[in-house]
Formats: sequence, C-alpha cells, structure tokens
Amino acid sequence: MKAIRGAITIDRDTPDDIKIAVKELLEQICTLNRITEENMIYIMFSNTADIHSYYPAKAAREAGFFNVPLFSSLEPEIEGALKKCIRVMVLTESELKTEHVYLRKAANLRKDLSSKLNIALDGPAGSGKSTVAKKIAEKFNILYLDTGAMYRACALKFIKLKIDIKNKSEVKKIINQISVNVKYIDGTQHTFLDGIDVSDEIRTNEISMAASTVSAHECVRSKMVELQRNIAKNMSCVLDGRDIGTNVLPDAPFKFYLTARPEIRAERRLKENLSKGLNDNFESVLADIIKRDEQDKNRPIAPLKVAQDAILVDTSDMSIDQVINFICNKIQEKI
Ligand code: DC
Repeated sequence: MKAIRGAITIDRDTPDDIKIAVKELLEQICTLNRITEENMIYIMFSNTADIHSYYPAKAAREAGFFNVPLFSSLEPEIEGALKKCIRVMVLTESELKTEHVYLRKAANLRKDLSSKLNIALDGPAGSGKSTVAKKIAEKFNILYLDTGAMYRACALKFIKLKIDIKNKSEVKKIINQISVNVKYIDGTQHTFLDGIDVSDEIRTNEISMAASTVSAHECVRSKMVELQRNIAKNMSCVLDGRDIGTNVLPDAPFKFYLTARPEIRAERRLKENLSKGLNDNFESVLADIIKRDEQDKNRPIAPLKVAQDAILVDTSDMSIDQVINFICNKIQEKI
C-alpha cells in the first residue's frame, strides 16, 4: 500500500473552480502513478478555511471517481498559510514508485519534489527509440512518454473528419476541439482521442505519414508540446520524439539522438509491421521512411535535428541490448 499526496490552489472560491481543480489534480495523480480508481482504497481531501462553495469530495465524484470512499475536511486557519488550497491523500494498492503531485501555487509547498529525471530520446522513424525508451523507463522505474502517439492521435482525428491535413487554416479550426490524453494502464501508455482509446488504431502506415504532415503545423505542435511539458514537469520520464532535446525540454539533463541507416530502419519497421499482421513490403516501407525523414527534418518549426548537447548513437550495427547498456551507462555516469 502507498499513500500519494497532492495539492492544488484555486483563484476563486466557486464550485466550477473547485470542480476543475479537483479533476486536474486527481487525473494527474492517476497518470503519474499509473493507477485508476480501481487501485484506490480511499481519497481524503482537506481544504483551507477560505474555501466554502463546494465539497472537493463531491467534485471528485463528479469527475468520475464513482466507487472509491471519499472524505473532505476543513483545515484550521493558519497565519501566513497558502490561500485557497485543496490538499489530497490517496491511499492506493499500487507498489510502484510514488509520484506526489503539487500543482499551481501549491508546487512551492514541495520544492524537494521538483528534481525530476527527464531523459530526451530523439531520432528518426525506426531508429529504435521506442524499444530503447521502454527498456530505460523500466530500468529506472520511471514513465515512458511516446510523444509521437500524440501527433498520431491528432492525425487520426483529421483523417476521420476528412480534413485536408496540409491546409493550415482548416487544421487550426479543428485543433482546439481535439482532446488528446495519455493514461497508463498496467504500466503501458494508452493514447486517448476525445476520450476513446486509439492506441492500436494510430499504428498504421497511413497515420505515420499523416502524423508527420500534421506535426509540421504550429498550432498542433504548441498544443502537444504544452501537454508534454506538463507531464514532464511533474514526473520522471523518458520522452521519445523528434524535438524533445531541442524544443520540448531544452534543459533535460540527459539527451540522446538515435539514428541508423535508412535501409536498416526500414528493415526493422517492416519486421515490426509483419509481426503485427500488416501486409507490407520493404520498398514501400523504405520510401515512407525516407519521405518522413525529409518532412520531419525540413519543416520550419522544431525540425528533427541533433541537439547541441545530445549524445549521438548510431544504432545501425548495434543490438538493442548494446544500445540500452550504452545509454544506461551514460546516465549512471552522471547521477
Ligand atoms: O515517433 P512516431 O513515428 O510515432 O512519430 C510520428 C510523427 O509525429 C513523426 O513522423 C513526426 C511527428 N513527431 C514530431 O513531430 N515530434 C515529436 N516529438 C514526435 C513525433
């Protein structure tokens, strides 16, 4: 059993502010600790005496925590204490490393929690990023955030709506109506589009190419990057993508750029696709990889490139275990 602590502040004492804050706090706790309501034994809230308009426990029920026992209490008025603050304690059955969550002005309450292990892993398609990222996350018992999945979810939405994904103004009109979210179920990232789990649907060749096109739009990138930074700010994680070291987390203490010859990458991707039962051939996978490299490297905003302070790893002639050992050793040297 583990107890997870958290707190968040509100600007105004209104039912809506309380509902939004409680939802955000509990969702972050679930995401960062890879738990759902089913893993919770109880949730206890307390709030400062300047909050009167709504019970945080009631807000939690309305946020979808239907079955877990809930409790709210009032804190004493303490001179100089942080104002309008809602605190929470979640008792859980999870045995994973606990990630406490302090948001907004409450982040200052626990400055000790702000030292996060963020690892940036960038590189082109098929360079081995996701396999390596998953293993490193396992090794350091931290989360793996697949940022490409977020762009893929956006691409899926545009395709479903039959939007011309090259058309900047059409994309801009829709992007703010899209909700992309990630949740961890049994330690694995699931990507949600408008509340629906699309983790499998986004793995086709069509979506790979569309994600590359969609990700070149500024409006799409700024929305996804904000989400990614929010997750990385609150927890230790390995992020894989194209612009993590250069743009999303330029201050990340560990940055790696994985690459490999295009033919090798195409072979790897083909093997992966065939194992999933997809009908594919080497020539078309290679052509897609080359086209995607070109799009991702030549877009004006946050293109794929090696960050100045990243360690370049050419994985062409390395086994996955060699790559993992190399990266883990580099991290261990510094921590
Ligand atoms: O890593 P992936 O193949 O799932 O990514 C799909 C596309 O999303 C990729 O071609 C470019 C884009 N992407 C990006 O622009 N920035 C990221 N951080 C991750 C992916």
